[in-house]
Amino acid sequence: MFRAVLTDHLQAAFSTAGISLPEGFSVSVELASDTRFGDYQSNAAMTLAKQLKTNPRALAEQIKAAFPTTELCSEVSIAGPGFLNFRIHPAALATKVKAITNASDCDVVKVAAPKTVVIDFSAPNIAKPMHVGHIRSTFIGDCLARVARFVGHQVITDNHVGDWGTQFGMIIHGWKTQLDHEALKKDPIHELVRTYKLVNAKTKEDESVLTVCKGELVKLQQGDAENLGIWKECVRLTLEQLEKVYGTLDIQFDHYMGESFYNDALAPLVTDLLARGIATLSEGAAVIFSDGTVGVEDDPFMGRDRETKEWKSLPLIIQKSDGGFLYGTTDLATIDYRVKEWKADEIWYVVGAPQQLHFRQVFAAAKRMGHTTEMTHIAFGSILGPDGKMFKTRSGETVGLLEVIDEAMERARAATEEKDQGLSDAEKAEVARIIGAGSVKYAELSQNRLTDYKFSWDKMLSLQGNTAPYLINAYVRTRSIFRKLEGSEVTLTADVALTEPAEIALALKLAQFAEASHDVLADHRPNTLANYLYELANTYHSFYEACHVLNSEGTVRNSRLTLCEATSRVLKTGLGLLGIQTVERM
Ligand code: ARG
Repeated sequence: MFRAVLTDHLQAAFSTAGISLPEGFSVSVELASDTRFGDYQSNAAMTLAKQLKTNPRALAEQIKAAFPTTELCSEVSIAGPGFLNFRIHPAALATKVKAITNASDCDVVKVAAPKTVVIDFSAPNIAKPMHVGHIRSTFIGDCLARVARFVGHQVITDNHVGDWGTQFGMIIHGWKTQLDHEALKKDPIHELVRTYKLVNAKTKEDESVLTVCKGELVKLQQGDAENLGIWKECVRLTLEQLEKVYGTLDIQFDHYMGESFYNDALAPLVTDLLARGIATLSEGAAVIFSDGTVGVEDDPFMGRDRETKEWKSLPLIIQKSDGGFLYGTTDLATIDYRVKEWKADEIWYVVGAPQQLHFRQVFAAAKRMGHTTEMTHIAFGSILGPDGKMFKTRSGETVGLLEVIDEAMERARAATEEKDQGLSDAEKAEVARIIGAGSVKYAELSQNRLTDYKFSWDKMLSLQGNTAPYLINAYVRTRSIFRKLEGSEVTLTADVALTEPAEIALALKLAQFAEASHDVLADHRPNTLANYLYELANTYHSFYEACHVLNSEGTVRNSRLTLCEATSRVLKTGLGLLGIQTVERM
């Protein structure tokens, strides 16, 4: 990675120049915001001069003089009050383009210290409608898992499905009284959600229905054979259908360890936490209070009273006075398991922003239990409909993953039908699946995860703009060049020389795939990679307009073909990291 090498060189320059860096000062190099002055830049001299109260420009001159001469960087220049600009040598770019073309991982360096990372994402709830939050979680989580693996981490993906909980009282009652068996066979998730909603509505009108449901729940929890059988069947049917959807989306999980898996661990966990004084009994419930180690502002167990605005205790309840366990109890047991069985160094939770407090409390409680594993809540905002309000279907229901994917494929299919590319029916269906799923994924992943975004079919399926079809089409265009060459001899990487500005610009972009992939994990933001790929596609189009490829000769032709091949590989690999497949024709 050029940025990392330049950072090392810069660090060396400081020491050669005899400038000792203050404690905690980190020398950093960034991609240049404006490549007219350099390909990379650093404001290290300026920041340091400020701290040392010396002239930044003079300090920059000293560093420039001490900067090691290497084959990578041909030129260091100083701009403005003391910015350092670095220019990558075209020969180094040529070497890099060859390496990208020769390596299956596009020559992206791996992390120096790989970690075992557990990624908790998707996690829908059985028989409850899957909502847009699950769509975002599914795509972001899958992308982060792919990127983390790609840069060398040991990744374990776990779908922590909500397969246990109070909803099962209603589901079981619904199963016994309302179930349409034919509908269940066709679309189990839909039918289970339908009966759940129906019963839920009834409980609101009629108190006695609620009592019946509660009775069913108690029976289930006590191990009643019939209810356990129904519960098992609901879970089985749902998972079976879910796996089909994940298959369509090309998403895999290493584990499906739902909430129910931890049932037996809950009672001993609570007993242990009480014994260790981490939890306390309060009005018959077991709760975790603040331990007062951080200020109230940062304390997840403290909150302001809505009315009086006074600080008050906000404990995490781990067992209700009626003996029932909660979502948080399961999460604590899950952490125990992931640390003990999987030796997790880090756990990432890709869950919507509304659960922020829950995770702050759970992480703080886990710390008090002695866990040192790094836990991160990777939050995201909501998806809005085209009208800017919550995303709903025409009938006013919240939109789920299944509906979105079906419609995306249908729309993509209609678009492929319009163009007659001589594809067979099966090929068309496959193109529709890839473009449909890819479009929805890309619409998600090209957004800053924390902001709400508007869902627009037309925009995401468009061949123009920052979309999956545009990027897949850029890939198709790189492939079509090589199709034209079929049968003729091409020696790609033998001889690469870059002279034209458009060639150099493209080579630099290609080299920066490494930075773009690693940067995704800096703050768990897939959009850094999506935006990089969009810029790459644009840079490629500019190159293609400025430089003849097939109509050139010798080294020039060879170099340009190598650039096309490298672009093709980076686009495919990069889209693959977003979970988006490519097609050869569209
Ligand atoms: N099933 C939960 C929901 O739909 C998400 C679970 C997230 N993971 C966790 N370990 N809590 O809200």
